[in-house]
Amino acid sequence: MAEHTQDLIAAAVAARLKAYARYSKFLVGAAVRDEQGRIHAGCNVENAAYPVGACAEAGALSAMVLAGGLRAVEVAVVGAGAGLVTPCGGCRQRLREFCAEDTKVHVCDETGKVRRTFTLVELLPSSFGPENLK
Ligand code: THU
Repeated sequence: MAEHTQDLIAAAVAARLKAYARYSKFLVGAAVRDEQGRIHAGCNVENAAYPVGACAEAGALSAMVLAGGLRAVEVAVVGAGAGLVTPCGGCRQRLREFCAEDTKVHVCDETGKVRRTFTLVELLPSSFGPENLK
């Protein structure tokens, strides 16, 4: 595996340990690598008003935007459990805004082992995006 992919996943693993998931107890970390090669991470942040909680991917993308990143060129999501921790529907659309169709989304276990790698278009086919608004 490329070193930059290992670094990306390591950032997501570390972010997961910061998750504020007191209601679900389901910790998620995410990281995106931007077009400048910089890594931005996020964790899920839940709320007593449950629907207001934020996903890890949303946090990572917010950090990227705040740092001036324009594109997410590689993505990692880290979570535990038997099922693959794939981005939720809303986060697929959030990623869609900043990713290309062939952008890799690595879905990893809590140790950072890649369980499966998807492309963004596999996760969100026939999507609506910024081009539609031109
Ligand atoms: N969650 C994420 O942060 N990202 C995902 O890709 C899936 C789900 C969070 C939301 C909530 O805080 C917890 O995991 C359980 O759904």
